[in-house]
Order: sequence, then C-alpha cells, then structure tokens
Amino acid sequence: MDDIFPGIFQEKDTFYTENLVPGETVYGERTVQEVGTEYRSWNPDRSKAAAAMKKDLHVFPVDRDSEVLYLGASTGTTVSHFSDIVSSGMVYAVEYSPKIARKILSAVEERENVAPILADARKPEEYAPLCSKVDVIYQDVAQQGQVRILERNAEMFLKEDGHVFLAIKAQSVSSEKEPVEVFEESKERLKDKFEILAGKKLEPFHEDHLFLVLQKN
Ligand SMILES: C[S@@+](CC[C@H](N)C(=O)[O-])C[C@H]1O[C@@H](n2cnc3c(N)ncnc32)[C@H](O)[C@@H]1O
Repeated sequence: MDDIFPGIFQEKDTFYTENLVPGETVYGERTVQEVGTEYRSWNPDRSKAAAAMKKDLHVFPVDRDSEVLYLGASTGTTVSHFSDIVSSGMVYAVEYSPKIARKILSAVEERENVAPILADARKPEEYAPLCSKVDVIYQDVAQQGQVRILERNAEMFLKEDGHVFLAIKAQSVSSEKEPVEVFEESKERLKDKFEILAGKKLEPFHEDHLFLVLQKN
C-alpha cells in the first residue's frame, strides 16, 4: 500500500482509506487487510473525490486532524472516507433530505468524528450553532446556485487560508448552456474569493462534472 496523501493509500489502480471502524463497511465497498490494518476501497463511480484522484488530482489538502464541513452528505459514502482520513478531526455532514439523512445516521453510527446535520446548505445560519470554523469545505450538492452556496458557507465557516473541494454539476447549474460554459463562468466567479489550485473533469466516472480544489484568499 503506498501512502499518497495523509490518510489516503493506493495499491495498483485502487485508492483506499484506513477503516476507522474495522469490520464495518458503508456501501458494500471491498476491504483489504495488511499488517493488522483494514483498508476500505474508495470507489470512483460512487465518489467524486476518488474520481478526481483517478484523474491524477495532485493536491489533497486534508490532514488527520482537519475539521471538515461537508455539504450534500447524501447517504454518507464520501463522508465515510473523509471520516477515515480525519481520524482525529471532525466531519460536519449537512444533508437536507430527511429521507436520505436517515440513511446517513445508520452509516455513521459508530463514527464518533461525524456529526450528521439535517439542514439546507443555502441557510448556513441555521446550523451555525452546531458547526465550528473548519479547515476544509467539501461541497457536492448538485443543485442551482452551487457557487453562491459555497460563498456563503465559506464566509461563515472557512478559516483563513482554508481549502475547498467543489464538485460542479453543469446540468444542475443550467440545462441550456454547454457544460464548458458553465464551468468557465463558475471559475471566473470563484476567482474573486479563492485561488484555484486544481480542476479535473470527472468523465468517465461522472458525466459533465468539474471537481475543483480551491484555497480561500
Ligand atoms: C450528488 S449527491 C451527493 C453525494 C455525496 N457527496 C457522496 O459522494 O457520497 C447530492 C446530495 O446533496 C443533497 N443536497 C442538495 N441540495 C442541498 C442543500 N441545499 N442542502 C443540503 N443538501 C443538499 C441532495 O439531497 C443529495 O443527497
């Protein structure tokens, strides 16, 4: 197993995180045991972060003790890998669909470093009492106004020099514009407040998605 970023490992073509809850899996992922440690495979078809790494993402600014605000937690697939990575940090996992949020509760039951929050990422003031200042925002909400949602959350929660992982789904921003136009417009707007450290289109894993790594100015 090669150690490629803090808490992220690679063997052949597959990425792994060290399982924080050995013996438990979250979405039917494969596990591998090596020298007394259990690793969970990270599926690029199920997670945009893993897809970006498959596309040779060269930066992954997360440490073992990072605090992460995760917007669009869904059923907890990628959240669980971030929970593995920030083994002595924290993941605040925001999801607005009650039906989906119920599933994340069981997925992260035994993960003490995940705080599931049922809330709308467009209204950060509602979860401000539950969330501290964070080192990282991970956003994958697949809805309109994705850049605006990030700006508001970064203003309220992101530390100076903090980092962002942003998945932009072109179709959710505009079904009329070409994806490339949506991506260029989004990047132009983001440049006001962030430095763009990396950008990867996620085909063939996720059609018409751009994955950006940003740093707050
Ligand atoms: C593409 S899925 C996220 C997948 C997830 N990031 C993963 O990799 O496991 C988008 C999720 O964002 C949620 N979502 C969309 N808009 C939201 C909002 N305004 N606030 C919170 N969650 C939102 C949706 O309900 C959905 O579960």
